[in-house]
Amino acid sequence: MTQRLADPSSSDEIGRLAATFNDMIARLEASFRQVRQFSADASHELRTPLTVIKGEAELALRRPRPAEDYRQVLESTLEEIDRMTQIVDELLFLSRADLGEVAIESLPVRLDALVEDIQRQAAVLGQEHGVQVTVGTVEPAVVQGDELRLRELLLNLVDNAVKYSRPGGKVEIALVREGTTARLSVTDQGIGIAPEELGRIFDRFYRTDAARAHAKKGTGLGLSICKWIAEAHHGRIEAQSTMGQGSKFTVVLPVVHD
Ligand SMILES: Nc1ncnc2c1ncn2[C@@H]1O[C@H](COP(=O)(O)OP(=O)(O)OP(=O)(O)O)[C@@H](O)[C@H]1O
Ligand SMILES: [Mg+2]
Repeated sequence: MTQRLADPSSSDEIGRLAATFNDMIARLEASFRQVRQFSADASHELRTPLTVIKGEAELALRRPRPAEDYRQVLESTLEEIDRMTQIVDELLFLSRADLGEVAIESLPVRLDALVEDIQRQAAVLGQEHGVQVTVGTVEPAVVQGDELRLRELLLNLVDNAVKYSRPGGKVEIALVREGTTARLSVTDQGIGIAPEELGRIFDRFYRTDAARAHAKKGTGLGLSICKWIAEAHHGRIEAQSTMGQGSKFTVVLPVVHD
């Protein structure tokens, strides 16, 4: 994988062929590296809850204890199992998506109604962290797609915005029409993302240093799923951020002609 054809500096056919070939090997090498990194990250993420379960069970069994202690261990075990189940479910979703096996509905979805609809759920998410979630401008927009997936996408973004905010912070959801697209955004005043990390946050398992220091919980799979959902709707997702001041995530989707 590390070998290349001799420097293809000539611009004749052989030179171009060699350059194309080298480029192909380089991309294959990057792809293998990604797979290796992915397996290492996935194993690590699953190992952490397993280590917690094992440690607590061993400690509990070291001597006889009152029933209440065992109860606490079982509760904590269940929590870790829930965490592992979520990771495995998300990984299964992403690998099925890679294989093209995730079916996506294609029905008209009113995005403005969707925003109104999740408002309450979003507010509750915020309350848990002392963050106020509000809805700003909402213009009518209909897209072709899968309502449940779009809801999941929006809630994932709100979940991040709230999680990476500080108590007292504000989060705003907005929806505007721009030409033939709808722009659905979630803006926060939270910890922000460093410019050199912005390009990596949609990678599976990637979490910024600031995020790890701020919130222990998180796997780094949410945004990979958001990106897949946006692209499955022929759209895209963009992130802008200023370190320490806040972030804005925008989902750009083509609207149905009206
Ligand atoms: N609103 C935000 N403000 C600051 N950083 C963010 C924000 N949203 C995402 N990030 C960064 O992008 C990373 C990836 O986000 P993602 O949602 O994939 O993972 P997560 O929230 O850490 O875990 P989970 O898998 O539970 O969603 C986060 O860990 C964080 O570093
Ligand atoms: Mg997340």
